[in-house]
Amino acid sequence: LSNGLAVTPPMGWNDWNAFGCNVSEALVEQTAQYMVTSGMKAAGYEYVNIDDCWMTSSRDASGNLVADPAKFPDGMKAVADYVHSLGLKFGLYEEAGTATCAGFPGSLGHETQDANLFASWGVDYLKYDNCNGGSEPTQQRYDAMRDALAATGRPILFALCEWGADSVWTWGAQTGNMWRTTSDISPNFGSMLNNFHSNVALAQYAGPGGWNDPDMLEVGNGMSATEDQSEFSLWAQMAAPLVSGTDLRNASAATMAIYLNKDVIAVDQDPLGKQGTEVSSSGGLDVLAKPLSNGDVSVVLFNENTTAATISTTAAAVGLPSASSYTLNDLWAHTSTTSSSSTFSASVPAHGVVMYRVTAKGATSASPSPSVSASAS
Ligand code: GLA
Repeated sequence: LSNGLAVTPPMGWNDWNAFGCNVSEALVEQTAQYMVTSGMKAAGYEYVNIDDCWMTSSRDASGNLVADPAKFPDGMKAVADYVHSLGLKFGLYEEAGTATCAGFPGSLGHETQDANLFASWGVDYLKYDNCNGGSEPTQQRYDAMRDALAATGRPILFALCEWGADSVWTWGAQTGNMWRTTSDISPNFGSMLNNFHSNVALAQYAGPGGWNDPDMLEVGNGMSATEDQSEFSLWAQMAAPLVSGTDLRNASAATMAIYLNKDVIAVDQDPLGKQGTEVSSSGGLDVLAKPLSNGDVSVVLFNENTTAATISTTAAAVGLPSASSYTLNDLWAHTSTTSSSSTFSASVPAHGVVMYRVTAKGATSASPSPSVSASAS
């Protein structure tokens, strides 16, 4: 969506995966504070987002949505003001039908009134769900809110949450800044893998201003550290929004080290804005390549299987030129090796990744296009 927002994939936090309907002012404010003190804000995490269940079960006498006074005793504007006082941005959730997924009032038919209310509270990001849409076409209902948000004059990032309905990737970039491509993620490797497979094939639709969204990060919510690292790497390689769905206040050092890996974040946020593609995939061993703005290529070797395996690729396959040497920066081991070999190979743990940022030195040919995997579907 050309509203000047999401020039790189949005980064932030959302309460849903870890807390469900158990959201509150204290949780949101403590998390925002922790995002500053932990270094997350400095690393680029910007949006503090409240999901479903923030409101009362009916509108007030004037038809306005009401923040649940038990959960938000100071009202939503006070929470937004607090988040803004920390230099962060504030996100809220609503629904493009008659009721949210948890049954609270939806915005269908109230788009202008709700958009104005959100703008008056200082909302910077709206996640817009699709549980109870009825017969009106999805795109029409989403466009109505897009136009209502634009009419407020406040820049509000518009996140479409329609789980890939109606091939949203084909129209998402006209309507929103990101669009869900999958059903809801859960904190296990199988769910993460499904969302990865669905999302990785949609690279052609992503770019500055509009991103494929394979759902929020489950890092810290119960997968193994290796699997958490895989999710974070794959999401960055796919230029996906990096929205943490864990209880950051109680996150382990290992979890925080993943969220704060600046080299992996730089791949996600690279200004070229290309989603990485699968250049080969066979027997659960995948190679992904993402071209970067300085001519480097980010290469992810991903092992979907339950035993360790060696995964190999070549400079030509990932879109690098013939060169006299290649420097491989391992973005998790934080080591760097230079060699003249144009074959890149590593032993990759079960369910794990090895992620290299590769620089070609002394190029002797132009960069080829990365090969397109026959198995990408
Ligand atoms: C849907 C969305 C989730 C979350 C819930 C809230 O399932 O996909 O991300 O917002 O609704 O009810």
